[in-house]
Amino acid sequence: MSSRKAAAAPRRAAELRRLIREHDHLYHVCDAPVISDEAYDTLVRELVELEERHPELRTADSPTLRVGGPPLDALATEPHLAPMLSLDSSLKEEDARRFDARVRQALGDPEARYVVEPKLDGLSVEIVYEEGLLTRASTRGDGLRGEVVTESCRTIRSLPLRLRDARPVPARLAVRGEVILGLAAFERLNAALVEAGEEPFANPRNAAAGTIRQLDPRIARGRGLEVFCYELMAVEGASFQRHADVLDAFREWGLRVDARARAVAGIDEAVAYRERIFAQRDELPHELDGVVIKLDSLAGREEMGATSHHPRWAFAYKFESRKEVTQILEIAVSVGRTGVLTPFALLRPVDIGGATISKASLHNREEVARKDVRDGDWVRVERAGDVIPYVAERVEREDAAPRAAPFAMPPACPMCGTPVQEKGPFTFCPNRLACPAQLEGRIEHLASRHALDIAGLGERTARQLVARGLVRNLADLFALGEEDLLALEGFATLSARNLLEALDRARTTDLERFLYGLSIPDVGRRTAADLVGHFGSLDALLAAAREDLLSVDGVGPAMAAAIHEFLQEPETREVIRLMLERGVQPRGADPRPAGPLSGRTFVFTGSLDSMSRAAAQAKLEELGAEVGSSIGRKVDVVVAGPGAGSKLAKAEKLGLRIVDEAEFLRMLDEAPATTSA
Ligand code: IVH
Repeated sequence: MSSRKAAAAPRRAAELRRLIREHDHLYHVCDAPVISDEAYDTLVRELVELEERHPELRTADSPTLRVGGPPLDALATEPHLAPMLSLDSSLKEEDARRFDARVRQALGDPEARYVVEPKLDGLSVEIVYEEGLLTRASTRGDGLRGEVVTESCRTIRSLPLRLRDARPVPARLAVRGEVILGLAAFERLNAALVEAGEEPFANPRNAAAGTIRQLDPRIARGRGLEVFCYELMAVEGASFQRHADVLDAFREWGLRVDARARAVAGIDEAVAYRERIFAQRDELPHELDGVVIKLDSLAGREEMGATSHHPRWAFAYKFESRKEVTQILEIAVSVGRTGVLTPFALLRPVDIGGATISKASLHNREEVARKDVRDGDWVRVERAGDVIPYVAERVEREDAAPRAAPFAMPPACPMCGTPVQEKGPFTFCPNRLACPAQLEGRIEHLASRHALDIAGLGERTARQLVARGLVRNLADLFALGEEDLLALEGFATLSARNLLEALDRARTTDLERFLYGLSIPDVGRRTAADLVGHFGSLDALLAAAREDLLSVDGVGPAMAAAIHEFLQEPETREVIRLMLERGVQPRGADPRPAGPLSGRTFVFTGSLDSMSRAAAQAKLEELGAEVGSSIGRKVDVVVAGPGAGSKLAKAEKLGLRIVDEAEFLRMLDEAPATTSA
């Protein structure tokens, strides 16, 4: 390695750290990403490789530490820098007003300024920065000592590993924040747990706590934890007068603060704020259990002090809980669009946080067995946001009647009578084409928001269309006439016309939505997008061999086989043919632009001097090439820079074409720019 190149490594490492930190901040704290996930991953990969080759370049704030350290035997505990108290709380407005009266009386002030913040329902942590560097994170524990969870917290990308120096960084800073799991991440996690035959979490809070307290920090990575910072616990080297200033400072240091935090002039505004936030509750991406009203003046806080349990200067004005105890009338089974039988509890209707709940999911038969719930049992049911309510646990009641027999899955599909089959923890109906429940599910899915988005085509309509034999496959939807719809319950001329218009609009769609809407096994939105990115057109996809599917990023052998089988089935072909014949026109999204390097796959190893990997990748893609991340026989060109490691060795072994940066740049130059014509 030339000395010039050796000197480039520390510079490049520092540059990459700066870039990654900046992009983390833009994405996770400012919600304003400026580069694609792929480009970001490329930066991280480059840094990981660079640090592998030059371990001496690793720093205590390197974003590569976010992968999570090695597993621990047990979580250590350490004392907090300041006690972590709880909050006085109530659901009642009169209690919030009483709190305000006490504050004003204690301070001898006719008016008190507050800061109001959403009360996030997660896990409270203390986060310590020394000289700007994240050195420790610990759970609340008993309030005085908590469990050290620094490594799992490092995996949270909204938590800076180093404070930004937009304002002078204090010698020491202890911040209190909430680690949460958003509802989408929670559902994703639970689906994965259920799929693996493991017990899902009862709510996002438990999921966040369970994740952060894992002994193996790598488990936290990828689960999508987030953090919001809301209190200054201790600081050396900075001083503040107001909580609002503290929050501003947090933001300048790059800490994530809830954007909905507000300074308000008195209790009336605080009460109005609570109502406003409450009204949004079901639309939010994460769980809130109330708002916190905090005295803004830090001197005032000092004056008021705390009880052993809670500060006198803050109050949690809570929302009604979304957990209630009710009785299971019966455990029934539903059949989804993929044929999976899902047990669910029919409940004695109960109001949970403003919605009447009469059903709750039980996931699969193993889950029912684990929770040991049976017909007639009393259970605690929870709901979060718009997430389907779930049975959290069975509750014992003294007055309970003798228990019913344990639940068992029916031997035949409750919808079509076909004998069921078992696969791992799942039971499914193999009658894919004719089972009415599966067809109804597929219709609803095709009509859903991220698929063809057909307004007015919901569960009830789908059920009737199938029951009356008006729709025997998805293509039949596009042959419906006004008469057909008028025969359905709940339809009149106007609603029938509206639905026909919605169907008509849905005929013009893009290929990604179309593929997602077909209910191809294992194909979610992400995979649909990847398929379109790879094949460009429906024809190309239908012509693809299983091996072609395997070369799509993120598609493994089992998935390739399932997709291939589905697309080759005569019934699938016929339905697609009919849909096209009936005017459905899925627009193939820009197939990877044909260019001078079309059909060629490049892989990078080692570093580049003249440009970032992201830029190199973008150039290649512009010229029609693909950029892969691992070495295999399909790779055409390996671009090796200084410090290339195992990839280079593997490429040599396979006899692949290996070029250095100078030659790579020549290749780029020589490829005529056909795409900008
Ligand atoms: S302030 C000493 N602010 O609510 C005051 N807490 O029920 C410390 N929480 O343990 C708490 N959002 O985990 C505060 N904006 C917020 C909060 C918040 C959620 C949690 C926190 C605390 C619990 C008390």
